[in-house]
Amino acid sequence: MSDSNSGQIDNVMREDRIFPPHSSFSERAVIDSMEEYQRLYDRVKSDPEAYWEAEAKSELHWFEPFDSVLKKDGINVEWFGGGKTNICYNCLDRNIDAGHADRTAIIWEGEPGDTRTLTYRELHAEVCRFANVLKGLGVEPGDVVSIYMPMTPELAIAMLACVRIGAIHSVIFAGFSAEAIADRNNDASAKVQLTADGLWRRGKVIPLKETIDIALEKSPTVKHCVVLKRVNNDCKMVEGRDRWWHEAAADASENCDATPLDSEATSFILYTSGSTGKPKGIRHTTAGYNLWAKKTFQWVFDWRPDDIYWCTADCGWITGHSYVVYGPLAAGATMLMYEGAPNFPAENRFWDLVEKYKVSILYTAPTAIRAFVKWGDEHVDKHDLSSLRLLGTVGEGINPDTWMWYHEKIGGGRCPIVDTWWQTETGGIMMSPLPGAIPTKPGSCTKPLPGVMPVIVDESLQPVGVNQGGMLCIAEPWPGMLRGIWGDDDRCKEQYWSTCPGKYLTGDNARLDDDGYYWIMGRIDDVINVSGHRLSTIEVESAMVSHENVAECAAVGRPHDIKGQAIAVFITLKDAEASEAMRDALRLHVRKEIGALAVPDDIRFCEAVPKTRSGKIMRRLLRDIAAGREAAGDTSTLEDFSVLAKLRGDEE
Ligand code: PRX
Repeated sequence: MSDSNSGQIDNVMREDRIFPPHSSFSERAVIDSMEEYQRLYDRVKSDPEAYWEAEAKSELHWFEPFDSVLKKDGINVEWFGGGKTNICYNCLDRNIDAGHADRTAIIWEGEPGDTRTLTYRELHAEVCRFANVLKGLGVEPGDVVSIYMPMTPELAIAMLACVRIGAIHSVIFAGFSAEAIADRNNDASAKVQLTADGLWRRGKVIPLKETIDIALEKSPTVKHCVVLKRVNNDCKMVEGRDRWWHEAAADASENCDATPLDSEATSFILYTSGSTGKPKGIRHTTAGYNLWAKKTFQWVFDWRPDDIYWCTADCGWITGHSYVVYGPLAAGATMLMYEGAPNFPAENRFWDLVEKYKVSILYTAPTAIRAFVKWGDEHVDKHDLSSLRLLGTVGEGINPDTWMWYHEKIGGGRCPIVDTWWQTETGGIMMSPLPGAIPTKPGSCTKPLPGVMPVIVDESLQPVGVNQGGMLCIAEPWPGMLRGIWGDDDRCKEQYWSTCPGKYLTGDNARLDDDGYYWIMGRIDDVINVSGHRLSTIEVESAMVSHENVAECAAVGRPHDIKGQAIAVFITLKDAEASEAMRDALRLHVRKEIGALAVPDDIRFCEAVPKTRSGKIMRRLLRDIAAGREAAGDTSTLEDFSVLAKLRGDEE
């Protein structure tokens, strides 16, 4: 991987192994050869409007037809303008009308081993009931509903109920702190909060409602809170504000017509980290997002009605939105949903689930695969994984050794691996092998999907040559693209569209190899990827300096065996003593400000954070020190980086 921000991108990764799709896979695949992929890619490229017009008509239900396919006005785009549709209708009613009412939509297993299944008909009834609960609370189209829930079917039901009535959901991952929830609720002016009494994690209860109670004290726009009973712990209910999910739903009708919504109506916002201290609410639409989630699901997973599909992501992230809920349900798939940790009660839990439910498609994150490698093959060997036919990865690059283990140990050498590159902003997968068509190379996300026009440019915005790294941009609009940042369109314009005018700036570096394969090489900004989750180092710094004893803080990413990257912080204290107790206090502080996922692995105290003469933190020096590439002396006491900083001069 490259050292981002270094100005120059070193291309150290060379991988020559290539794995053509197994003939047994290609024979049954929808897109079954490289020629077929190329034909489709060229067809969409030559006349995108004709292609997307036909797809939108055949894949979505329209209450009112659209009168234009794509309108571009500078950076503003409109897909399927004039049309009215509804994502929930497309996911549920449309499948029921097509005769699939009794097909299983969700097979769910809780961490303690409790299970539930819901057919499309049953899911529809639950969603309608909850949509009526929301209506009863006064939720109207365009209102924001904040969701902080465990991975239970009710989380999907809540999301679908929102989009059914045109409410905008903002799902907040259930590991975030009360402060982080309140920030997001306030930014979005959320009206209603949905949560649970708690969730199960490694055999323990995480009391979600306690966190919500603190968050809601600081979320003045939230007037109601609906609480799912999941763990049966004691939990305080605030009179007039809180009510139990089961009580509210018991009184609600199973009939609730889907609201016809404008194609461009906001379906949801999802907060993600950018290069500043403040997370941004990425805004997605209705028709374009729905179509992109569905088509990419069908293409990349080569989905068939007899598949049991399992995406292990949490709905708190974009992967859970597009490939747990909206893509698979729009396609009419049967999916597995699991609540808990991969190593509870033991490290074989995932493989136990694959065997038990005969999972045929498994989509997970490299950080999880690295953990499985570390836990040992014996946990895998106990299980029959012969139901698997396709494997996927998402969220970060996968190193070739881990890829090979996944391929051989989990996939038995017969399952293609789809390494899917995309982002919260892109709404769905942008680059990935089509598994029956594109030979894979370990560590490469291979080729763009039809409709995606990547271009790699250097700092002077000129396209770079083969095997030269540069900034990855997307030259043309695609239906699933973000439409803005909630409440801050200027920031959206600045961040994504100003560096390469007219093109979407992904924030990633990439290179193209001799075979036209793409290799993602890490971020160009101060965003780091911890266990496949995006965090801004500046967010961590802001949280740290809000502690009373911290004078200054620099946070950087450093390589980590399991997490991919870990956070290392360099701290200058005010009048306090550098001690283990201070480290503990700072860890606790970050946990409270952001959540457990942002707690640094390394906290190092220093005399002064090294800076250039112009006052910029010497991040490259700190990254090298954090990674152990540069000797920095005794780390038990206050470190003095001034000598190293002087040696480096102003080169940063
Ligand atoms: O740096 C890329 C990395 O994750 C970033 C997007 O993070 P997020 O919006 O949280 O979405 C994650 C799930 C889609 C990207 O800018 N990334 C994601 N997938 C890959 C990847 N890096 C390399 N290879 C991937 N397959």
